[in-house]
Amino acid sequence: MRKMQSEIGSICCIGAGYVGGPTMAVIAERCPHIQVTVVDLNVERIAAWNDSDFSRLPVYEPGLDAVVGRCRGRNLHFSTAVEAAVAAADMVFLSVNTPTKVKGLGAGQASDLRWVEASARTVAAHAQGHTIVVEKSTLPVRTAATLQAILGETSGRCHTNGPGPTFSVLSNPEFLAEGTAMTDLANPDRVLIGGEDPEAIEALAGIYGHWVAPEKILRTNLWSSELSKLTANTFLAQRISSINSIAALCEATGADVREVAKAIGSDSRIGAKFLQAGPGFGGSCFQKDILSLVYLCRHYGLEEVAAYWQQVVALNTWQQHRIARLVVNKLFGTVNGKRLAVLGFAFKADTNDTRESPAIRICRDLLEEGSQLVIVDPKVAPAQIAKDLGQGPRAQGPDGGGGCGCGGGGGGGCGGAGAGARGWQMASNALEAASGADGVLLLTEWAEFGTLDWGEIAAVMRRPAWLFDARAKADARAARAAGLKVWRLGEG
Ligand code: NAD
Ligand code: UGA
Repeated sequence: MRKMQSEIGSICCIGAGYVGGPTMAVIAERCPHIQVTVVDLNVERIAAWNDSDFSRLPVYEPGLDAVVGRCRGRNLHFSTAVEAAVAAADMVFLSVNTPTKVKGLGAGQASDLRWVEASARTVAAHAQGHTIVVEKSTLPVRTAATLQAILGETSGRCHTNGPGPTFSVLSNPEFLAEGTAMTDLANPDRVLIGGEDPEAIEALAGIYGHWVAPEKILRTNLWSSELSKLTANTFLAQRISSINSIAALCEATGADVREVAKAIGSDSRIGAKFLQAGPGFGGSCFQKDILSLVYLCRHYGLEEVAAYWQQVVALNTWQQHRIARLVVNKLFGTVNGKRLAVLGFAFKADTNDTRESPAIRICRDLLEEGSQLVIVDPKVAPAQIAKDLGQGPRAQGPDGGGGCGCGGGGGGGCGGAGAGARGWQMASNALEAASGADGVLLLTEWAEFGTLDWGEIAAVMRRPAWLFDARAKADARAARAAGLKVWRLGEG
């Protein structure tokens, strides 16, 4: 029995991650008449979503705790009972992870679709009546055909307690950015719905219609929708690699990349956004989505197109190695045993996410050179950093704690050098991290790093002392005035 748009009373979202959690929280808030259940196999994640302490929600997004606080228990639920939630739903969103495959066919490029397939099979096995299945995950073009094939096997088949389920598959990619997810969801540039079933498309459009203007809800065929998501991410990433390539040229020629970005961004055909040079793009999606596109191109025999996009990733990787090399070169060609303060580990500000963070590659390179890193990040947990760097923090001993152990910086001291000093540890603030350090390396643009007291910091560092600012976020003038040597990315 098909349900009409007005009958959608229950939504299930499979995947309680960075997309599933915030997206469903916003739908629940804007559509109080719909029961929304977000399910996940990860028991700890669901427990964290249900935690009475909102600071322990598994995803940090400004404003998310307030929305969850208003809706949870009313019409927003987090549960591990996947099958029951699917059975109760009129509409099921698939918002599971789609990382790059690490082994087998297409390893290093193709998206790993095992979680999408598993959730489609769960839907096929447990859905009741007519169910609209919505691809929310970012997927290779034509994945909807795979879903249709899996769901089609059960479609219309008789169940013991009545007629079997039927399905409509839609593509509804998500364009939110982490750190601004709640405002992006509340006021999207567009909502994209791809599909073949007009009634299902209107059912989904009707949900967004509760807060999104009709002209912003775009309807396309399935394949255009799937491809538009990959294309949006590859275009955004391409702009970052483009400006980062020019940043390197600025450093070589005496130009300033921020002046260049402003000059070109003032051209309305180019536009000002996404022209901030930095340590390269991170995040769970840009690299994986470009690689997915590259794999698709190769699959269709478009080798030149694949090579074109592959270069966006290559430039990004180069930028990260370049920064680590530059730090080593400025510190007299060696950082062995030297203490370096690392400001920021998240892939961007206002998130606790470290997936593909530029900090990972840069820190790994510096650890490989034997340095002692002291990392500060307001939201990233030490356990996550340990996982990303492939090693636990250095033991906190009498000389391995917050300071360098020499009892004072003041331009002298031990400088943190010496056997056994290598590895990494956390500090709770920049001043503590910089104590006895030869360099401060700013990698994430957290607001608090823009207001540091450079006089105070310079006083506890070993001289000559450097500020390496890969985000151009710090007050470079104040740092110079305090006696630091300053390298800013993209400044010649
Ligand atoms: P995530 O890893 O944070 O969350 C995915 C969740 O799905 C995990 O908690 C996992 O346990 C769960 N899961 C996997 N298989 C399951 C199954 N069979 N049953 C129940 N739960 C299952 O991922 P994310 O960052 O939310 O991304 C999800 C998708 O959205 C990806 O395709 C990604 O490319 C896309 N996307 C992400 C963002 C972003 O900002 N993170 C933005 C737009 C699109
Ligand atoms: C990005 C896209 O912006 C979203 O539209 C998309 O939905 C999402 O990917 C996804 O599919 O996962 P996100 O990765 O969360 O969102 O964050 P961005 O703001 O795009 O930043 C990505 C990376 O690029 C960060 O490391 C950021 O520091 C870097 N960046 C961004 C720059 O170096 N310069 C810029 O000008 C902009």
